[in-house]
Amino acid sequence: MVKKKIAVLTGAGVSAESGLGTFRDNGGLWDKYDPQEVASIDGYYRNRALVLEFYNLRRKELSGARPNSAHRDIAAMEEKNIVTVITQNVDNLHEKAGSTNVIHLHGELTKVRPEVGVYDDTFSEKEVIDVRYDEVNLGDKAPNGSQLRPHIVFFGEAVPKIDKAIDVIGDCDVLLIVGTSLSVYPAAGLYRYAKSDTPIYVIDPKDIPIRGGNIHHIKATATEGMQEFLKIIETLN
Ligand code: APR
Repeated sequence: MVKKKIAVLTGAGVSAESGLGTFRDNGGLWDKYDPQEVASIDGYYRNRALVLEFYNLRRKELSGARPNSAHRDIAAMEEKNIVTVITQNVDNLHEKAGSTNVIHLHGELTKVRPEVGVYDDTFSEKEVIDVRYDEVNLGDKAPNGSQLRPHIVFFGEAVPKIDKAIDVIGDCDVLLIVGTSLSVYPAAGLYRYAKSDTPIYVIDPKDIPIRGGNIHHIKATATEGMQEFLKIIETLN
């Protein structure tokens, strides 16, 4: 049987049932913090200590989080399909659940890298350091002597892996979207790159902002919705 190519675009909602807050739900992260202060490149250069502390807190929170069954179901699809996860999440729960092909569009919370000049993001992957759940503070320097910063795509920065994500979605047989408000570009526009006959399934307990002939809304949480999707994927020839 020919393996189906499944692209899975995820957002904070896939990690909600692991206890990690989403951004825009009531009580979400952006209710507590101003993203321009703690998650933008200008905010970082205005107040490095505040931003470093914000990511230290989120890294510490991540250390206690475990993948939920939605992460595990997504990973398990690799047994019979070619699965690429394109996530907006900076947590490592897809990898912890066993997904082996994960594209992090917005960076990775457990990783840091040197600041290479102001507003200059010419870093290479080999300079990226995995600090796991440890703190990184002002004065913590990279081998090249510059301050270590979160390996996160801040608001106002380019999304280096967007082209790779576009290629994956343009080539997939099925597109599954789980737990994203589709409100931050360019990630929010990725679904448009699917072929016109590619079925698109969107798992979200709330109403979704996109519609169209090949878009199917599974109105459920990630864990419940994945159970339903696994049944659907079995019927797709
Ligand atoms: N299961 C599935 N989806 C859920 C669940 C759940 N248990 N709980 C909430 N959701 C849905 C919400 O209805 C919403 O559509 O998850 C989505 C979360 O949306 P956001 O909080 O906006 O998160 P996300 O779409 O990932 O944000 C995108 O914005 O701030 C930036 O870089 C940040 O990557 C993030 C990007």
